[in-house]
Amino acid sequence: MPTSLQQDLFGVLPSGERVYRFILKNEWLEVSLMTFGAAILALRTPDVGGRLENVVLGGGELADYLAPNKAYFGAVCGRYANRIAGASVCIDGVKHPLSANEGYDTTLHGGKDGFDARIWSARIVEQNGVAMTLESPDGDQGFPGNLTATITYTLEESSLRLGYECSADQATVVNLTNHAYFNLAGEGNGVILGHLLRLGATRYLPLDERYIPVGDLANVEGTPFDFITERAIGERIREPHAQLLLNRGYNHTYVVQGEPGMLRFAATVRDPLSGRVLTVQTTEAGIHLYTAGFLDGSHLSASGRPYVADSGFCLETQRFPDSPHHCSFPSTLLRPGETYQSETLYEFSVMTTR
Ligand code: BGC
Repeated sequence: MPTSLQQDLFGVLPSGERVYRFILKNEWLEVSLMTFGAAILALRTPDVGGRLENVVLGGGELADYLAPNKAYFGAVCGRYANRIAGASVCIDGVKHPLSANEGYDTTLHGGKDGFDARIWSARIVEQNGVAMTLESPDGDQGFPGNLTATITYTLEESSLRLGYECSADQATVVNLTNHAYFNLAGEGNGVILGHLLRLGATRYLPLDERYIPVGDLANVEGTPFDFITERAIGERIREPHAQLLLNRGYNHTYVVQGEPGMLRFAATVRDPLSGRVLTVQTTEAGIHLYTAGFLDGSHLSASGRPYVADSGFCLETQRFPDSPHHCSFPSTLLRPGETYQSETLYEFSVMTTR
């Protein structure tokens, strides 16, 4: 399927730095990316009647992507996506204090100045991909070692492939993800509670009151967390389950069945109204379902509609939150000479039966 590629200036940051946009397009998908946060700005795909709409939140003003009120729309989160408790890590006996950006003792999505808030350098790969690279210096947000991180977005037929690669010159911890919020009915088009979700996971990570995993994995059976067979996201989201109340909905990492490192099924979401379907495959150990309970209407869609709670869902493929403090979780340590590799495929189709 031939892909076209366009490039233009998206905006200018208050610092005067320029942010570029890349648009990849084939017959099924159109993806806009920007160099700020290596973010997905928009993703257009047809509904069952062939109507093209943008199915990811964001894409409006550059200001919506800036602190203090940022929601990480479509951005790459790093050096460590999700949370690290105590805003510190201990590596080979040395304690490294990290930038805390949730109260005094939690590091969320890499700290105050995470990878989502950086300008990445972009290069075109073949005619259907864009690779964005960030050089994160030793001590960046407290993390040890110079780290080179690259994400390559590739348009393949009806899929967007996200390939991550990192290397470092000192032992460090790494966990990268993309924080796209999807609404398959079109961004700004109401809430996602009627979307039907199936997850390839029987266990998830319950959280404490700081949103940090308690450590034990919980079985989803008999709970509102069970999406082993397809269910509407909203079917049980308002049940008085302590984990749902704390997070204003789902904000939990699920353990993807099968072997981490192998590309395998993680999730399918179907929207009965538009007929759009998203299927997620990943090499990652976890998939984080976030139903955007903390969106409060202060961000506007490109068409001026406020994003409220449940306006979108994220399926962030990643390693487990706070792994450096849980020896039973897969390791997130990256040593010099090793390569961090991760792949996720977002595939779009339409429902054949409704
Ligand atoms: C986290 C939420 C957080 C959100 C910020 C998600 O990945 O799990 O707790 O509020 O990012 O946009």
